[in-house]
Amino acid sequence: MLNPPLNFTATDYAMMARALQIAEGGRYIAKPNPHVGCVITKYGKIIGEGFTQAGGRPHAEAAALAQARAAGHDCGGATVYTTLEPCVQHATSRGDACSDLLLEARISRVCSALHDPFHGVDGRGHHNLTSAGIKVECGLMGDQAAAQLQAFLSRASRNRPWVRLKVAASLDGRTALANGESKWITGEAARRDVHLLRAEACAVLTGVGTVLADNPTLTHRNLPATAVNAHRAPQPLRVVLDTNLRTPLDAAICQGGNTLIYTTLAQLASAKAAQLQALGVQLQAVPEITVRPNSPPMLDLQVVMHDLAQRRINLVLVEAGAILNAAVLQAGLVDDLVAYLAPTLMGSGARGMFALTPLHSMADITNLKITETRMIGRDWRIHAVVSPMKKAS
Ligand SMILES: NC(=O)c1ccc[n+]([C@@H]2O[C@H](COP(=O)([O-])OP(=O)(O)OC[C@H]3O[C@@H](n4cnc5c(N)ncnc54)[C@H](OP(=O)(O)O)[C@@H]3O)[C@@H](O)[C@H]2O)c1
Repeated sequence: MLNPPLNFTATDYAMMARALQIAEGGRYIAKPNPHVGCVITKYGKIIGEGFTQAGGRPHAEAAALAQARAAGHDCGGATVYTTLEPCVQHATSRGDACSDLLLEARISRVCSALHDPFHGVDGRGHHNLTSAGIKVECGLMGDQAAAQLQAFLSRASRNRPWVRLKVAASLDGRTALANGESKWITGEAARRDVHLLRAEACAVLTGVGTVLADNPTLTHRNLPATAVNAHRAPQPLRVVLDTNLRTPLDAAICQGGNTLIYTTLAQLASAKAAQLQALGVQLQAVPEITVRPNSPPMLDLQVVMHDLAQRRINLVLVEAGAILNAAVLQAGLVDDLVAYLAPTLMGSGARGMFALTPLHSMADITNLKITETRMIGRDWRIHAVVSPMKKAS
């Protein structure tokens, strides 16, 4: 990895800020590729810019070069600002590698925000350029780029997706009545916002308890026009954790394909498994582990997340009840949380957000860092990141 140089100019910052801004055009459509932004400048002016297109191709650099050429510009001697290290041939099976395209275009300088930890790149893009005599400087606005690409970086460097947990609750933190009824706690604006979360995610994960109680479809629909290209987002993979294959065959989530159920190896041989597969539902066995003493074993969430990463899932949105919410949190797998709080009170008899095992010390509570609060319709929307869980001593 290259050392960040200390002499970036105000123009460099302005151009990288622009690259970060236009990268947003790919947020909903580039997956499973990272949504990268690229700006090309010559003689102090922008001559081309682009972001990663639908399905990940063309890459941002290729899109920016194409735009510059379409406008009649020669990119020889230009500077390229890109929010992620350009790729190399090894990493790509479709189209030319971006570092080769930049070489062919006779670019003289590349400023990138981040080293790409993906095993197929991992420094080789920068090396390809520097070994051809191009000046490469890495680290410009790297923190901002890392925040923007956190889901892809999670898969590339941690071998698991970024896990976002969404919860809709009353002001007293209740997510369903004791009888399981929960439609609707929050207002229409908040529910539309959830569709945007689904559009951004590669997968939506729930438990069989929610499937049985709510019969959700977990697709995105009626997306607000304000989010650039959200309406072009592919539907997320719908994922259910279901140890005993209790998901009904006529459940909404079983219709239309694009559904994956994690279950046990024993269940894979059952008649119900065959019926689900005949509907187009994918099944995947994972081992069970004992998480709590005196409680039945549960599907191993670490294995689930690892398997999702193998399926090129960058961002998982957990939309589940208190049981699975707690299990994902206690496994140390939740990265951030979006809570919608309605101006209603449901009382202590209703279900909570997280069915955690009782804690006996304030040292054991989960700490969050709230990063954004805003009204959405009549409800509060709170975004928070989860501090790393403490390891058991
Ligand atoms: N307000 C909201 O934001 C919101 C969102 C979703 C749901 N809900 C409400 O939540 C209620 C359902 O919640 P719930 O807690 O009963 O169900 P849940 O959390 O959706 O699903 C829990 C079930 O998933 C299965 N599971 C498999 N592997 C697991 C693992 N490793 N960890 C945890 N669970 C695993 C277990 O059933 P098996 O042992 O059979 O596999 C478990 O009982 C409904 O009333 C629904 O309306 C509210």
